[in-house]
Amino acid sequence: MIKISPSVLASDFSCLGNEAVRMEKAGADYLHLDVMDGVFVPNISFGFPVIKSIRNKTSLVFDVHLMIDDPLKYIGECRDSGADIITFHLESSSPAADTIAAIKAAGCKAGLAIKPGTPAQEVFPYLDSLDMVLVMTVEPGFGGQSFMGGMMEKVSAVRAEAQRRGLDIDIQVDGGINEETAAVSRNAGANVLVAGSAVFKATDAADIISRLR
Ligand code: DX5
Ligand code: ZN
Repeated sequence: MIKISPSVLASDFSCLGNEAVRMEKAGADYLHLDVMDGVFVPNISFGFPVIKSIRNKTSLVFDVHLMIDDPLKYIGECRDSGADIITFHLESSSPAADTIAAIKAAGCKAGLAIKPGTPAQEVFPYLDSLDMVLVMTVEPGFGGQSFMGGMMEKVSAVRAEAQRRGLDIDIQVDGGINEETAAVSRNAGANVLVAGSAVFKATDAADIISRLR
């Protein structure tokens, strides 16, 4: 089952609550919330109080993507803001095993993200304890960039290894997803598609969500 997670980075921040409701009505599965600290990535987006402010507006699954330097420090706050899935970067300074354990202890699902330069094999040691692997299809930091097709080999490699181990793990792709690249990603083995610009800038969000799926 393919899940669609619209990234609010491309939404109208002046009415974020309404934007979340609009996505729920349009048939989204998750709401993708990109937290950037200006250190791990060269951009600053929003933090946990903003996420918390829209938690009671929608029952969508909150899919929080932490692009921050030391995610382990913020797992409690992230959970308290209403996160359901917490994804952090393997390239961050927090130890991955401890961070995954902290996310699970907080009662959330754990995702591990890799940037385009990180080989797929680097997530393998953590695969058994993860709910999701995020294979970035752009350099993290900004919406509206072009999809990197070369990342599909990594998606297939993670899917193959998960299947070999009998794990029913989610594989997410994020960056440059549109109708065409969604098909490429699904074929490679991804089942959670993040889309910012494609969904929020579309005139008919429900239509594009069903096409992506
Ligand atoms: C990029 C973010 C993405 C971004 C995707 O660092 O992680 O979630 O919002 O935006 P689009 O779909 O416009 O490439
Ligand atoms: Zn993201």
